[in-house]
Amino acid sequence: MKVTVFGTGYVGLVQGAVLADVGHDVVCVDIDAAKVAALQAGRVPIHEPGLAPIVQANQAAGRLRFTTGAAEGVAHGELIFLAVGTPPDEDGSADLQHVLAVARTIATHMAAPKTIVNKSTVPVGTADQVAEAVRAVLQQRGAPIAFEVVSNPEFLKEGAAVADCKRPDRIVIGTGSAAAEAQLRELYAPFNRNHDKIVVMDVKSAELTKYAANAMLATKISFINEIANLAERLGADIEAVRRGIGSDPRIGYHFIYPGVGYGGSCFPKDVKALIHTAKGVGFTPDVLLAVEQRNGAQRRVLAERIVAHYGGDVRGKTVAVWGLAFKPETDDMREAPSRALLQALWAAGAQVRAHDPVAMDEARRLFGERDDLVLCDTPLEALQGADCLAIVTEWKIFRVPDFDQMARLLKDRMVFDGRNLYEPAVLARHGLGYESIGRPGVAPAP
Ligand SMILES: NC(=O)c1ccc[n+]([C@@H]2O[C@H](COP(=O)([O-])OP(=O)(O)OC[C@H]3O[C@@H](n4cnc5c(N)ncnc54)[C@H](O)[C@@H]3O)[C@@H](O)[C@H]2O)c1
Repeated sequence: MKVTVFGTGYVGLVQGAVLADVGHDVVCVDIDAAKVAALQAGRVPIHEPGLAPIVQANQAAGRLRFTTGAAEGVAHGELIFLAVGTPPDEDGSADLQHVLAVARTIATHMAAPKTIVNKSTVPVGTADQVAEAVRAVLQQRGAPIAFEVVSNPEFLKEGAAVADCKRPDRIVIGTGSAAAEAQLRELYAPFNRNHDKIVVMDVKSAELTKYAANAMLATKISFINEIANLAERLGADIEAVRRGIGSDPRIGYHFIYPGVGYGGSCFPKDVKALIHTAKGVGFTPDVLLAVEQRNGAQRRVLAERIVAHYGGDVRGKTVAVWGLAFKPETDDMREAPSRALLQALWAAGAQVRAHDPVAMDEARRLFGERDDLVLCDTPLEALQGADCLAIVTEWKIFRVPDFDQMARLLKDRMVFDGRNLYEPAVLARHGLGYESIGRPGVAPAP
């Protein structure tokens, strides 16, 4: 089928490439000329496992093209996807300016009926706003062309986006139109062979499904972090508790890892947007408000621990930081817990030496040159001259480090682990002090 995707970010680029990979004819449109030029030259601007090979192969096969030309994009696709950003506005609501701009662009250029498929995460009622924006432009043009607006939220996980798109758990289609449903069933047929994953519902329910999914996952994280805080104060071990509750299939092991709070481009903004939506209809979302509050506190925990360890004064101290990306296997640092930690450490007067396996360019772009930050090429280089280590992202490469070398390099032999990567007893054996989340701490050997 002929498909156009507006927005070549983490969602649009992956979706476009995966659709081309099963034989669809895909044009991706973006207003970022530098990004489009890089993609045209076969360079993939984001880190996402398995993405570059399928982008390059399908480009070479002529099934995947990149352009800044909106008119060309609109002319191409019978299905036109919106995969542009919906960042939080100042009041926490989702900023729909990019979504509505693309809607108007489509209406400006369309000369034949189109099915507009919204993949961006948008509040309930946005499909109606998109339809209204398209209708207004068509009216101005005196062009009574038929169109449909469908909601088809995306559930991919960054770091596993290609795999998730190729093998989705479910494909939610929000539409009241049998014709649009048939089009989307045809589009997704290659991904729907093993068993029927397509769930068709009304547009509003589809829009709410996406927020409900992310809010539920954020709730699990805030819940386990709350219990971790309790465990610390009660002398219990959250890792034992986690295994104890995860074994109950009604709870499960997924998304109950204690840590430094959720981050990334989705959970923080989506929880905020859902709170805003709820308040807008006169409803107080008590659970979501608590989820957000717990997360805000949890993002401060590691910095507070470090400052407390040094008696409230970290001026002149150098903290090594392992992990900057908001989670492993991505270079995305949007709302990353590392940013909260670095800002808090800098505000308290500490220096930082940081390493991340793939987010170094992103860190350079975000932080620029600063006297209180050294970006290091390897995990061990970050430890050189540092007083202590803070672990923020659970990259595999950090799982089995050389503890003896760590003990030699870290002046105060202290590790503050925001991801519970190690057994406290193992670090104690190597003479390292260890503080993690929701478990008893260990002092460094004298
Ligand atoms: N990142 C995720 O893990 C994820 C998962 C599910 C859903 N979502 C949702 O998908 C949407 C996109 O997220 P993302 O992470 O891919 O965003 P992103 O910021 O990585 O990419 C958005 C892209 O849209 C482009 N763009 C903006 N205005 C445009 C316009 N008028 N025409 C063409 N292109 C335009 C930008 O230049 C950018 O390249 C958001 O609503 C997000 O909430 C994201």
